[in-house]
Amino acid sequence: MMNRRQFMQTSAVLGATAMFHSSSLWAENSPKTVPQITLNNGVKMPIIGLGVWKITDLKQCQQCVEDAFSVGYRLIDTAQAYGNEAAVGAAFHASGLKRSEVFIESKISPNHISEKGVLRSFEESMKRFKLDYVDLFLLHTPMGDAKGAWKALCKLYRDGRVRSIGVSNFYGNILRQIATKELGEVVPALNQIETHPYLQHFKVQETLKGYGIAMQAWSQFGNGVNGVLNEPVLKKIGEKYGKTAAQVILRWLVQRNVIVIPKTTRKERMIENISIFDFALNNDDLAQIAKLEKNQRIWGGSWGREDI
Ligand SMILES: NC(=O)c1ccc[n+]([C@@H]2O[C@H](COP(=O)([O-])OP(=O)(O)OC[C@H]3O[C@@H](n4cnc5c(N)ncnc54)[C@H](OP(=O)(O)O)[C@@H]3O)[C@@H](O)[C@H]2O)c1
Repeated sequence: MMNRRQFMQTSAVLGATAMFHSSSLWAENSPKTVPQITLNNGVKMPIIGLGVWKITDLKQCQQCVEDAFSVGYRLIDTAQAYGNEAAVGAAFHASGLKRSEVFIESKISPNHISEKGVLRSFEESMKRFKLDYVDLFLLHTPMGDAKGAWKALCKLYRDGRVRSIGVSNFYGNILRQIATKELGEVVPALNQIETHPYLQHFKVQETLKGYGIAMQAWSQFGNGVNGVLNEPVLKKIGEKYGKTAAQVILRWLVQRNVIVIPKTTRKERMIENISIFDFALNNDDLAQIAKLEKNQRIWGGSWGREDI
């Protein structure tokens, strides 16, 4: 366990530490502070949030987001394609939190990657959220008319409808084009990509860093299907600190300044997943995790390929 000084040093490495208000909303054993990452336009976002993919029952999704808020989460990652933006908005409106206290992230559906598709579907998202603005909107994939879609997102950003804009699953040439402003006047704030101990993406992170783009991991637990949560190396590292493999994975990512959005419908796991700011992995731990790289993707196809 870290003492307070070590904790503050770790927080400083991760970025400014934000104090969240509404102390009554915090569960007894969840952390009172969550480090934040400053995006390239100065907007700050929590380094950990809740992902809500596959929580398709709207009542259940609203309950999950309310639970997440109650144990200290302030970042929620949804998408048009997940069909639950309305539930995320409803959970915020029921929470009693101020709008400025939460960070709502969504993505333009792969079906709407075009200039008109973005402008139209964005308005539909806003009606579902019942919000005046969102904190971060991403293009979900580079498929379709990425140039037209990015131009439209830039316009929404310019018009103040969204505080920051970014991409997901962008690699290689298309990433270079967008990052060097060939496709529009804004450099994306963030790229959300599949990242876990079996697909570590250090090289991509360096590339993103060079462009000033933050990295966010999706499926950091391999969507619960690739066995990474049962990885003996991670379990053994966790035992030293009284932590689970899930917590070791999340800690490994936040120590790299990677924003994480673990999905769970269980409140006790939400607490477990956010309780990662009271220990630190050492160089030996990091070296062991580095050896787990398998270049293994959960999802096949052309998504998530650096070579296209
Ligand atoms: N941009 C993209 O293309 C893209 C693609 C995929 C995902 N995402 C985003 O990334 C988020 C996370 O990825 P993901 O949903 O694929 O899954 P994930 O976070 O990698 O893993 C979720 C799985 O892990 C289980 N789990 C959660 N916490 C646990 C813990 N502490 N111990 C043991 N098991 C635990 C969950 O089960 P329970 O729910 O039963 O706890 C679920 O089965 C998504 O929800 C979504 O927001 C984005």
